[in-house]
Amino acid sequence: MSNRDVRIALDYHEETKHSSVSIRLKPHFLDWSNRPYPFKVYTNLPRIPLPQDFPKPGEDTLAALACRAKPSQKTKPMDISRLAELLFFSAGITREIRYPSGPIYFRSAPATGALYPTELYVVNGEIPGLEAGVYHFDPGEFSLTQLRSGDHRAALAEATAGNNGVLRGSVSIVLSSLGWRNAWKYQARSYRHWFWDSGVIAANLLATACSEGFSPSVIIGFNDSQVNQLVGLDGRAEAAVAIVTLGGEVGSGVAAPIREVAPLKPNVKPLSKYVVEYPEIQKLHDASSLGSGEEVAEWLSAAKQPLPRDAPAGAGRPHPLPASAESSSPLWEVILKRGSTRRFARAPVNVVQLATILDRARSALPADFLPDAESSLLDIYLIVNAVDGLPSGSYFHRWRERSLDKLKDGQLRRVAGHLCLEQELGADASIVFFLMSDLNSVLSRYGNRGYRASQFEAGVMAGRIYLAAYALGLGATGLTFYDDDVTEFFSPHAKEKSCVLVVAVGVPAYKARPGKILVGRIKHTMSAN
Ligand SMILES: Cc1cc2nc3c(=O)[nH]c(=O)nc-3n(C[C@H](O)[C@H](O)[C@H](O)COP(=O)(O)O)c2cc1C
Repeated sequence: MSNRDVRIALDYHEETKHSSVSIRLKPHFLDWSNRPYPFKVYTNLPRIPLPQDFPKPGEDTLAALACRAKPSQKTKPMDISRLAELLFFSAGITREIRYPSGPIYFRSAPATGALYPTELYVVNGEIPGLEAGVYHFDPGEFSLTQLRSGDHRAALAEATAGNNGVLRGSVSIVLSSLGWRNAWKYQARSYRHWFWDSGVIAANLLATACSEGFSPSVIIGFNDSQVNQLVGLDGRAEAAVAIVTLGGEVGSGVAAPIREVAPLKPNVKPLSKYVVEYPEIQKLHDASSLGSGEEVAEWLSAAKQPLPRDAPAGAGRPHPLPASAESSSPLWEVILKRGSTRRFARAPVNVVQLATILDRARSALPADFLPDAESSLLDIYLIVNAVDGLPSGSYFHRWRERSLDKLKDGQLRRVAGHLCLEQELGADASIVFFLMSDLNSVLSRYGNRGYRASQFEAGVMAGRIYLAAYALGLGATGLTFYDDDVTEFFSPHAKEKSCVLVVAVGVPAYKARPGKILVGRIKHTMSAN
């Protein structure tokens, strides 16, 4: 199957659309007795406890999201404590809530359905406190499991056509998706979630790394089977989705020469009693895989071509956005405070808050699939329900000009709720952000791999919107949506675009308690569930 056969991504997208008819015709009932275990546990490999007194990312959240290195800022050396900090503030446990069906361990980043399909792997040169190797991160026990010993950065670099950040940086993090954990609830549509859920984790990871003065960057173009083999994945039940390099080559120097990467056959605790496979997911995953160094290099060089400019101006008068806020709270506080808002008060936010969230959503994203960090595969459309200083209606974000084009006037709460799969959260929020992409042009540029890139970028953008909203004292939640109704609502402006993800922002209707640093409190049993 070829990455260039983009019919496969288009068909998948079409078949997994939600509409008010599809959700009524195809209801799905959850088998709670078969709920997947939310942690990956190796039964036959040694675990290394991570330090629990790690530093906290203290940079102002709005600055960390913008990730502008200050001239005075020096990269701090990477060591095991800083690695523990990066892992905790991206994927650590911040809340434990007990339900009749069992506890749910909520994490520092959001996740569709609180199912946490994303696993994190560390590929590192030697750093103080940790020998060079390949490790799996377990947020439950707050430990690393060593999968390989020795410096394997050159092997990871080879799989990325020689990425310099992988080769010279002391640590890279591979994010994977353990598909069944999410497919249990979301079925075939869950392939989109592979990228949303890893993207929001990447948003936390990028901000935490920036807070510590690293220069992180994202890799989507890699030889799938090489990366999967390196971290011991079969590429079916679980597969690598993205790599985040952290930069900051201090300590471990350039990678040791490449070494042989023998297959790993680790024993892993079963996720649940049985697994349902969704062939449409495997089909698109295979068809969006890159299979050789040449294919990766060719893909990366296509990605370096400039992207088309913004869409033509909307019919209405442009609304210039005010300067954004520059100071908020330290990143660690905001990450602990973050949670998805479950009920919004129908109260207004102000236009500076809106401008700040848009700026941080569109902060530079250093990524191999973008020609430069300021580019994006996404456009932001909005429904403004209640923003002081801005009339209610729908808008298109013209990010280069920092302005909004008005598309439709009026009170649109009812339609906002409908578009968000009839969820009240969309109607009650002050602003609903619709992250949209011209799928045909993305696929013609990147092949099926562009499907992964645009969904992942939407996850990062959503994660940044969450953090910016909480930094400003507001609340947020990701939302799913009725695909074609969103396009139709924003047409003719958006007639070529597909909705990729939605985030609602507003004033929470209740006061939530902040999360905590909950480390090392789970002891896994080895049987299923
Ligand atoms: C991409 C994405 C989509 C989401 N979609 C919905 C949704 O449609 N409805 C909803 O109530 N919550 C949605 N959520 C919120 C999750 O349910 C929430 O993140 C999860 O329960 C974990 O809780 P927390 O965010 O409070 O840590 C979404 C979250 C993400 C990241």
